[in-house]
Amino acid sequence: MPQRRRPLVAGNWKMNGLRADGIARATALADRARRGDAPACDWLICPPATLIAPVAAAVAGSPVAVGGQDCHAAASGAHTGDIAAAMLADLGCRYVIVGHSERRADHGEDDATVAAKAAAVLAAGLTPIVCVGETEGEREAGRTHAVVARQIAGSLPEAATAANTVVAYEPVWAIGTGRTPTPDDVQAVHAHIRACVPAAVDAGGLRILYGGSVKPSNAASLMRLPDVDGALVGGASLVVDDFWAIGEACR
Ligand code: PGA
Repeated sequence: MPQRRRPLVAGNWKMNGLRADGIARATALADRARRGDAPACDWLICPPATLIAPVAAAVAGSPVAVGGQDCHAAASGAHTGDIAAAMLADLGCRYVIVGHSERRADHGEDDATVAAKAAAVLAAGLTPIVCVGETEGEREAGRTHAVVARQIAGSLPEAATAANTVVAYEPVWAIGTGRTPTPDDVQAVHAHIRACVPAAVDAGGLRILYGGSVKPSNAASLMRLPDVDGALVGGASLVVDDFWAIGEACR
């Protein structure tokens, strides 16, 4: 019997939204998720840091969780502009995305930095969503599996287990482009990730999300894959109907 893993549908709002529209979107999602006929998945919103507190208030008491998009590896100190994982926990966050390709590219984050951030997230009692994924050049060179294996080996903290950590496979070339790998390619990479996580992780129980241009029209073909346990959604998470439809595809 394959292990049942509860899907996680996570919205990464990135640097989008002011209070009024962010609260309205979060409230609309929470209202739907409260209904008895909602799909049996975990819902997560990762708003910009400025909206975490009002979004957490808007979804309080609903099945929708709130997360951060990044944090610093240190617990506190002289790091102007940065946010510690404990500060995110203090606002009600339960998850933190670490190692998103936009952070890796825009802020020069390498695997060791990502592992240190993920360790800080765990130390704060939160769940890191550790992102990995190849660039277009790496895919064309046939290096996808090698790149992802290297990122997994370098970016998962020692304390990671299936119970406390989530992995997201996000091919860099699929993010925000409308292009996705074929379902066969996605399944192959997810199975590869499951095969190469350290033994201590309990690969069979690990949730591995797919991210990169997930939308209502392709969600069913991706979410039904045996090693895909939910989605990390950017653009489509900004439209409640679209985000909801992706959750419906996890039924
Ligand atoms: P996208 O972004 O859904 O807009 O492609 C996904 C992500 O970056 O997490």
